[in-house]
Amino acid sequence: MSRLAILGGEPVRQRPFPHWPQHTEADARRLQQVLESGNWGGYPFPNTLADEFSRQFAAFHGARYGCAVANGTIALVAALQAGGIRFGDEVIVPAYTWDGTAAAVLFAGGVPVFADIDPDTYCLDVEQVRQAVTPRTRAVIPVHLAMRFVDMDALLAVAAQHRLAVIEDCAHAHGGQYNGRGAGSMGDAGCFSFQSSKLMTAGEGGAVITSRLDLFELVQSCANCGRASATDQFGRRVVGSNYRITEFQAALLLGQLERLPELAARRARHAALLTAALAAIPGVRPLPAQPALTRDTIYNYVFQYRPEDQAVSRDLFVAALDAEGIPCDGRFYEAVYRSDLFPARADDFPQLKLDRDRPVDYRECRCPVAERAAYEESVWLPQFLLLGDEQDIQDIARAVAKVMTARAELAQAAPGLAGLKGMSRADRPRFERERNY
Ligand SMILES: Cc1ncc(COP(=O)(O)O)c(C=O)c1O
Repeated sequence: MSRLAILGGEPVRQRPFPHWPQHTEADARRLQQVLESGNWGGYPFPNTLADEFSRQFAAFHGARYGCAVANGTIALVAALQAGGIRFGDEVIVPAYTWDGTAAAVLFAGGVPVFADIDPDTYCLDVEQVRQAVTPRTRAVIPVHLAMRFVDMDALLAVAAQHRLAVIEDCAHAHGGQYNGRGAGSMGDAGCFSFQSSKLMTAGEGGAVITSRLDLFELVQSCANCGRASATDQFGRRVVGSNYRITEFQAALLLGQLERLPELAARRARHAALLTAALAAIPGVRPLPAQPALTRDTIYNYVFQYRPEDQAVSRDLFVAALDAEGIPCDGRFYEAVYRSDLFPARADDFPQLKLDRDRPVDYRECRCPVAERAAYEESVWLPQFLLLGDEQDIQDIARAVAKVMTARAELAQAAPGLAGLKGMSRADRPRFERERNY
């Protein structure tokens, strides 16, 4: 086996992986039409393409109503506001997710309560949710993370028992199905992101889908400065804001939705090949299959780094794999309560001290499974690695095997070699820009 690239050897791969995002001639034509129409914004609301996209997107996931908005974080805020979250209400969120899931709860006036995750799916552990419920709990946000779904049947039962609103965070799950039901259609509402790394993207963007007309009307009002929704059957009035999406974004998203099934199938096919290849490499473990997944959606391919000893950290393993020409990450997410992107204190968010003897102090949180995933075990491969050919998949597996085989040699190297991969996420952007990530 040749010398590791991180130690100066030849990388397994120098060829780039497929580019993301991808666009077509039809996208260019639609954008040109919007440009020439002069009808660019989100007002009058919902504007033509935004409305068309919202309807198609909701129907594709099996929900009655859809409302495209400016981004995924604001989609969560609108769904929480519409779902009745009031100042000081507790909302259970997974400890392992993008920080924005929890930040949205703060922005809506709620108190995020972190629950630990399942070690095989990295999604909310429903038993931990049950234990986190208090008399103040009003909602739960299951995040369908990376390539797996929360055990929704069990979660919906807990939610029904305690009368909790269920707001699905589907930022990773476009087009996925759990026991035949579409992502975002199982709870009270489902929220999506179309930020540039996502499975559908317009650079930025988001959507809320729901089958509850009362909730839909409130989401529309929240997103459109408090104006009445077109149906306005419930006649509720809110102080809203401008969360509207532009016609340019909607034009792109119509094309993205058309191509989603084909791209999802390609990713799923390649993910299955990768899973088979990784299963044969000692010290790494693919996530176990989840039979309830009736349609795969793979935002990042995630596997577990589980060597027999701790001689080489996960961060160093990831840095070595990256140097072999395989873009990957370990600290893609952190345990949110430990993340420097989540410095939530009661001075800034007074709901954290409302009617409490002591303010909520996130430094006291402990979710061991989330921490193991975040700091020791998870390896994240971006979805575009699965959009090429079978040779790409073989290269990934060869690179993983090469690094695992050379761990003794790697262990001799300075741990500082983990570099960017071991760095706090708040500090990363300027280094990422320098490396043109
Ligand atoms: C799980 C999760 N939730 C919420 C969001 C927020 O989406 P956005 O970045 O569009 O605000 C993201 C994406 O960044 C995400 O990955």
